[in-house]
Amino acid sequence: MRTAVFSTKPYDRRFLAEANENQHEITFLDVRLTPETASIAAEYPAVCVFVNDVVNRGVIEELGEGNVELIALRSAGFNNVDLEAAEGEGITVARVPAYSPHAVAEHALALILTLNRRTNRAYNRVREANFSLDGLLGFDLHGKTVGVIGTGKIGIVFARIMAGIGCNVLAYDPYPSDEAKQTVEYTSLKELFRASDIIALHCPLTPETHHLIDREALQQMKDGVMLINTSRGGLIDTQAVIEGLKSEKVGFLGLDVYEEEEDLFFQDLSNRVIQDDVFMRLLTFPNVVITGHQGFFTKEALENIAATTIGNLTAFETGEGPLHEVTTERVA
Ligand code: NAI
Repeated sequence: MRTAVFSTKPYDRRFLAEANENQHEITFLDVRLTPETASIAAEYPAVCVFVNDVVNRGVIEELGEGNVELIALRSAGFNNVDLEAAEGEGITVARVPAYSPHAVAEHALALILTLNRRTNRAYNRVREANFSLDGLLGFDLHGKTVGVIGTGKIGIVFARIMAGIGCNVLAYDPYPSDEAKQTVEYTSLKELFRASDIIALHCPLTPETHHLIDREALQQMKDGVMLINTSRGGLIDTQAVIEGLKSEKVGFLGLDVYEEEEDLFFQDLSNRVIQDDVFMRLLTFPNVVITGHQGFFTKEALENIAATTIGNLTAFETGEGPLHEVTTERVA
């Protein structure tokens, strides 16, 4: 299938080209899909996008007026796609339902360990021959209570990792799973907020979960709570969390995603003046660690993303193999 692949980096090109084996005619583009670049996409029957591409109604209508029949996401999350608009235009949307839950769950652990044992600060100190331990005091994770919000593929793996360390794991999910019950104790969101030393977000971004962590939620949490978000930035009201950091309600914040990340992440902006004052404020706290949406970024995950994406193109074109379609009714 002739496919325009947006937002590609060298690693995307490498893994997709390897998985493709010249089956599909792929054009790799550096640019994001946005209203400004939609006219490029409209020429192709298939468009392949990532998490920060803009696939809203306006863009989809332009794609629909062109040749586009398939939007293939290289991600599990599809909160950036207006599914209703796609259905209206008769465009199929497919995604990569699971590529490596371990990649994201293990990255959440990396954030927790960095925040707790302050290895980011220790690394810099030792390089400058500063062997002082002042300010590096951590706590044993063993015996602490971890609250997992969302016990899907990633949440379960994360819960098992934390249970392995010796934490008590509480969880909240509107659809509890029997598999997760072997590791977690399901509870209400309110109780999870009240009892957890560490809270990790592993649910999707939907209208219901938008700003799940807001002022009211923060008030219910333990003083000095550690918050970890590797899911989607919009789950957290960033301004409320900044207030929480200032009042020391929030003791640690680990983020792999940020509400306004579209204009920042996946690019080298080190020579530019960052205009986002909220993001820059976050960077000033010693107890905040931010990574630029790299939870998925392991070799295994990229291999799986590429293989499933190529599989989606083939399935759509030939009807052979599974097509992981997402509609307003059904998520495969
Ligand atoms: P999943 O679909 O397997 O699990 C999501 C779970 O959240 C489900 O059990 C669902 O019932 C639950 N849920 C839905 N609404 C909820 C609510 N209001 N409160 C609590 N739980 C709720 O998804 P998976 O694969 O575990 O991924 C989770 C999220 O992680 C994705 O939606 C995506 O946003 C994010 N993600 C981030 C990556 C990164 O690189 N940082 C990479 C991959 C995914």
